[in-house]
Amino acid sequence: MQTVQLNDGNKIPAVGFGVFLIEKNGPTYDAVKLALKAGYRHIDTAAAYFNESDVGRAVKDSGIAREEIFVTSKIWLQDHGYDAAKKAVDVSLQKLGLDYMDLYLIHQPYGDVVGAWKALEEAKTAGKIKSIGVSNMTPKIYSALVPQFSTLPAVNQVECNPNFQQKELRKLMNKDGVKLEAWYPLGHGDKKLLENPAIVEMAKKYGKNAGQIILRFEVQEGFIVLPKSTNPERIAGNINIFDFELTADEMEKLRAMDTGKGSHNPDAPGVGEMLLKNYKVHD
Ligand code: A2P
Repeated sequence: MQTVQLNDGNKIPAVGFGVFLIEKNGPTYDAVKLALKAGYRHIDTAAAYFNESDVGRAVKDSGIAREEIFVTSKIWLQDHGYDAAKKAVDVSLQKLGLDYMDLYLIHQPYGDVVGAWKALEEAKTAGKIKSIGVSNMTPKIYSALVPQFSTLPAVNQVECNPNFQQKELRKLMNKDGVKLEAWYPLGHGDKKLLENPAIVEMAKKYGKNAGQIILRFEVQEGFIVLPKSTNPERIAGNINIFDFELTADEMEKLRAMDTGKGSHNPDAPGVGEMLLKNYKVHD
């Protein structure tokens, strides 16, 4: 599996398996076992996905050495602020049943993010986390918060696909060497995108499906991608993107599909409050 070099010296597999919206107590365990069998070595969960325990059990039961699997989790909004974040790191580790996480992200950029970041930095120094990062930071949020951090994030996990290529944000992140992790890398299964004639033509040329062309484009752009699938064939196919390369012309064609807009706007008023109301990881 191809890896991406992070600004803290660590490496991350370019394709990861995301478990958002997969049920706890079984389904996530089965999906992660399947993904690991198919060759994934990077699993992306979060406290607010409520399935960290399943992920941890699947990693343990896989028989694969712990250091060969890259495990990401994320702190939830309820635990922002220094003291709460310190505890949240330990709760995630406990639920995962692991000694360390490879990456821990600030899932949502609201509330006392700076205090939470300080706790994550300390947990990294203590060896509980190898790399730390952020998520859902727009250019506006990134510019307001990251300059207040003493260390740079390794990644910013944001919505990103050919429809929404985050060009402005990438300029800011590139200056800091912060890598982009893409959620909804397939536009959440957007039919218009997957049936785009130029993409379908490339798929025919390379003997791949449209999703694989999109993921290959993103990996060639330097993104870390987290495609979601519950279909065993597509789960396996989505990591089978390293035996071909898109040409410069094809890359340009795909770059031209950017509309500059996604499905979620983290800058919209009230997003933090709405998320906090809808997802509670503890009382
Ligand atoms: P399925 O679970 O039936 O494979 P995203 O990762 O952007 O959220 O997109 C996920 C959606 O894309 C799911 O509906 C998934 O459906 C579909 N999908 C996943 N991989 C592919 C692929 N290679 N080609 C087409 N659709 C895909």
